[in-house]
Order: sequence, then C-alpha cells, then structure tokens
Amino acid sequence: MKIFKIIILKLLFLNLIFAINNEELELKELIDQYAVISLEKDLSYLSKNDKLMVEILFNASRIVDDIFWKQTMGKTEQQFLLNYKDKETIEYSLINYGPWDRLNGDKPFIIGIGEKPPGLDFYPNDITETEFDKFNNTLKTNSYTVLRRDKNNLKCIWYNQEYKTEVKKISKMLMKASSYSSDKGFEDYLKLRSKALLNDNYYESDAKWMEMKNNSVEIVIGPIETYDDNFKGLKASYQSQLLIKDLIWSEKIKKFNSMLPELQENLPVDKKYKSENASSSKGDMYVYDLIASYGSGNAGPKNIAINLPNDPKVQTDKGTRKLQIKNLMKAKFDEILIPIAKRLIDPTQFKHVVFEDGFFENVMFHEIAHGLGVKYLVDGSGVSVREALEIYYSPLEEAKADILGIYFITYLSDKNLISNKDLMDNYVSYIAGIFRSVRFGTSNAHAKANTLNFNFLHKFGAFEKNSTTNYFSVNFDKMKLAIPKLVNHIIVLQGNGDKIAAKNWIDEMGALNKEEVIIDYSGIPIDIIFKQGLNLLKF
Ligand SMILES: *[C@@H]1O[C@H](CO)[C@@H](O)[C@H](O)[C@H]1NC(C)=O
Ligand SMILES: *[C@@H]1O[C@H](CO)[C@@H](O)[C@H](O)[C@H]1NC(C)=O
Ligand SMILES: *[C@@H]1O[C@H](CO)[C@@H](O)[C@H](O)[C@H]1NC(C)=O
Ligand SMILES: *[C@@H]1O[C@H](CO)[C@@H](O)[C@H](O)[C@H]1NC(C)=O
Ligand SMILES: *[C@@H]1O[C@H](CO)[C@@H](O)[C@H](O)[C@H]1NC(C)=O
Ligand SMILES: [Zn+2]
Repeated sequence: MKIFKIIILKLLFLNLIFAINNEELELKELIDQYAVISLEKDLSYLSKNDKLMVEILFNASRIVDDIFWKQTMGKTEQQFLLNYKDKETIEYSLINYGPWDRLNGDKPFIIGIGEKPPGLDFYPNDITETEFDKFNNTLKTNSYTVLRRDKNNLKCIWYNQEYKTEVKKISKMLMKASSYSSDKGFEDYLKLRSKALLNDNYYESDAKWMEMKNNSVEIVIGPIETYDDNFKGLKASYQSQLLIKDLIWSEKIKKFNSMLPELQENLPVDKKYKSENASSSKGDMYVYDLIASYGSGNAGPKNIAINLPNDPKVQTDKGTRKLQIKNLMKAKFDEILIPIAKRLIDPTQFKHVVFEDGFFENVMFHEIAHGLGVKYLVDGSGVSVREALEIYYSPLEEAKADILGIYFITYLSDKNLISNKDLMDNYVSYIAGIFRSVRFGTSNAHAKANTLNFNFLHKFGAFEKNSTTNYFSVNFDKMKLAIPKLVNHIIVLQGNGDKIAAKNWIDEMGALNKEEVIIDYSGIPIDIIFKQGLNLLKF
C-alpha cells in the first residue's frame, strides 16, 4: 500500500516535471522567434534643454505602458505578473502584453488561460452584439470611451476618466517637456497634445503635428490605432513612440522628391503613359531612429514605418505623414535578411547585400516612386487605375514602386547625381530582400509584388541560380536591361487599366516556383523586440 502510494506520487512528480520542462522548452522557442535589439542612440549633440525634454518624454512614454496593460488585461503589468514565477512565462507575457501569442493567432500560451476576449477590457467581457446594438448612446462608437456595466445598464466612460491617474501624469509631463523644446512647432504640438489627452479631443493637436516640420525630436503619443479591438474595431489603444529625426536622409528625400518631374519625363514608356504630372503624395515623409516604444506599438512584432494621423478630417485638411524608422529597418536587415541572404546569395556577391546604400536606399526610392507613372487610364475616360484594376491594383502598384525605385536609382547613378554608387549593392540587396518578403506566403500585396518582379527578372536572366550550389547571383548587364522592360510592362498595364491582363500576369507569375527556389528559414528570427532605457541613450 505504502509502496503503491510512493509510486503514484513519483509518477505524478515526474509527470509534473516533464510537463513543466516541456512548457519551458516551448516557451523558450517562442521567445527565440524574436531577436533582441537595443534602442541606443548618441544624443550628445542635442542642446541641454532638448536633452531634458527627451528625458521627460521618455518617462512619460513609460506610463503609457500602464494604460495599455489595463486596456488589454484590465490590470496593470504588476497585477497580472504577480501570479507567475517562472522567467519564461513572464518574459513572453511582457513581449505580448498578456498571455496570448501575437505571432500565433493570439492563442493562449499559459495553461488554464482562456481565449483572448475580442473586446479586451474596452467592453464588459460578456457583452453581445445585440446588447451593443440596442445600447442607445452616441458615445458607444467613440474611439476614446470604454463601455462599462452600471448595475444592469451599459454606460460609456471617457479614457481621460477611466485612466485618470496615468493620463493626468502624462499630460503634465508633456506640458513640462514643451517648455524645454528648442523648436517652436514641437513646443506648440506638445502643449496641444497635453490638453487633448485630458479631454480626448485630438483634432487640433493632430493638425499641429502635421504643420510642424523642423523638429528633430518627435513623439507619437496617445490612443491611436484600433487594431486591438477585435469586437468592433472602434477603440483606440494607447501607445508612445519617441523618435529622433535623421536630418541627412530627410533632406535627401526632399531633394529626390523635387526631381520627380524630370524622372517622369524620362520613364521608359510611350509618351501617352507619362503625360500626367508627377506628384509627391500629399503630406510628407521623414526618416527617424526610434529610442522608446511603449504600449500598443511595442506589443509583439514591430512596424518599420508609421503612417498618421488616422482622423480623416485631418487627412483632408493637412495630409498625412509617413515616419520611416531606420534603426528598426537596420535591425531587421541584420537579424533576418542577412542570415537569409547568406543561405541564398552567391558568396562572391554577398558583399553587395548592404544596408544604407542598398536595402534602405531601395526602400526610400520605393516610397518616392509611388508618385510616378499613371494614376488615371490613358484613354481619357477619367477612370482611375485603382478603380479599373480592383483587387489587382495593389500588387501591381507595389511591384511598380519596387522596380521603378531601382530604375530611379540607376538613372541618378548614370547621370552622376548620386556619388560613389555601386548599383550592384541595390540590385543584389533587392533580390535578397525578396527572399525575406515571401517568408509568410504571398497573400499580401507586397509579397505578391515581390514574386511578380522576381519571376520577371529571373525569366529575363537578370539573375540566375547555380544548380550545383543553389546560390543565386545577379547578372549586372542583364539586370540593367531588364529593369526598364519591367517598368514598362507594369506602367502600360496600369495605364490601359487592363484587368484581364493584370489577372493573367498575377496568376502566372504571382507565386515562387517551389522547386526552383528552396528557402530554409529555420533558426532565423521572425521579428524583433527592444531593450530600451534612458541608460542606453548617450546624453
Ligand atoms: C525620469 O525617470 C527616472 C527614473 O524614474 C528618474 O530618475 C529621472 O529623474 C526622471 N527624469 C526626469 C527629467 O524627470
Ligand atoms: C435614444 O436616446 C435619445 C436621446 O436620449 C432618444 O431621444 C431616443 O428616443 C432614443 N432611441 C431609442 C430607440 O430608444
Ligand atoms: C522650418 O524652417 C524653415 C527654414 O529655416 C522655415 O522657413 C520654416 O518657416 C520653418 N517651418 C516651420 C513650420 O517652423
Ligand atoms: C501639369 O502641370 C502643368 C504646369 O504646372 C500644368 O499646366 C498642367 O495642366 C498639368 N497637367 C496635368 C495633367 O495636371
Ligand atoms: C556553379 O558553382 C560551381 C561551384 O562554385 C562552379 O564550379 C560552377 O562553374 C558554377 N556553375 C555555373 C553555371 O556558373
Ligand atoms: Zn509601397
């Protein structure tokens, strides 16, 4: 009897150990999907006051985390993590801001935790569609209110009341920071933002944000994106991103944007396909390094660009701004693209897989190239390319921007308008980048665009695979000949608004040949997470 008991106990014990080990192993693998990068930056060149301002803004950003934890879990980070002791559970919860895996369809990774509530803590947990529909309150669809139960009735509460303690602190800090700003535009923005957080009315501060142009410190702070609300897609999550403008690249983009008319004239297409005036898209674009990220933008996988504001009224009145985040692109390049390229690019050409003058330059010219080509059909009907091509529009437009960007760089290099240019850096980095983009399939427009161009260039012999080594290498001369041909092919398709031809091209060329292109992604991270802190900034 006694022995029996011991055996059972022992079995239970072993079982338990086994279960824990298993879970730990799995969690460790999940954590290893992310490469850790450090948000460090030399800020010693800033004025004394601007340094102080950055420090205050950094501290304000951290408070945003408390609000986002409440929005997600109904509890602060400390209150939630209190229940867990093992290091990996805590670490992965911090990465995901809760117990649901953002890289795996929000599946819970802690045993005993239920499904992620679609409405998070924005709504009562047990709310139904019918109940929401019946609720007669104009504030229920407002992005800056939570719904709560008051006995049997629903009610709306403004964010500035629900998160009053945190909001007041953040608001006060933004006001304080504004008094140290060396840039008048940024000072005015911070003041308006400070007030906006207290009444959840963001129009004025968003408009001022679009008006300021000369600030070298930048902050995106407040309730902004509504992706986390899977019940109604209405409620905005708190986030804060503190950024430092890259003045050299921001200046370069301005210069290249001013050359759009000249390039439009020199597109490799028939006259009728270049009769529209080139225009840089409404709004503006700057390059930044990220130095702090808290709240929604810091959860799970990271974006390398921000496009704001979301308010359609501000968009109409002032346009939008695109923030290109260079240090995050560099991190993804180093941690993800380089290891992929090592497996696929011929060792003799691997030296051309470079960041600044290759990959990053390509991305910048992709954005600029969106402003070139045709927006309306050439038949004079006034129908836009977007309307004509419907679902085929986006992949084609992205494919155009990719290859036209490279055409643009080639043109500038041939005219000696970019100095010390080795075009192979752009060509090889572009091909290597394709292998990264198609990692998660080709269902999105960017990935599809990548395969269209890849297959076109491959067919043309612009690069080839060595069947012995399985490495790819670019043929410079053929690549240079293929680029204008591909540009021509896409712009003509767009200008004619030929939906059938677009469909056929995508059906035929929109996927990689799995026998020809075999990519082993094992052991290569999927995304990045941040190590951040004031101690990583050099003041
Ligand atoms: C920012 O927070 C840190 C850590 O809490 C604190 O030591 C520092 O004094 C704060 N800085 C400012 C300017 O408030
Ligand atoms: C909704 O509320 C408004 C204002 O309180 C009221 O006038 C209206 O009759 C209500 N509608 C319904 C369907 O209860
Ligand atoms: C930015 O600086 C330029 C040049 O110094 C100046 O002309 C312009 O008015 C400034 N813009 C704003 C919004 O402060
Ligand atoms: C292009 O710009 C020129 C000069 O600004 C203008 O005269 C012309 O009407 C514009 N063409 C189109 C198609 O918008
Ligand atoms: C393929 O690579 C091998 C090994 O480097 C080389 O000997 C061969 O010449 C290459 N084949 C072609 C067609 O370039
Ligand atoms: Zn694009």
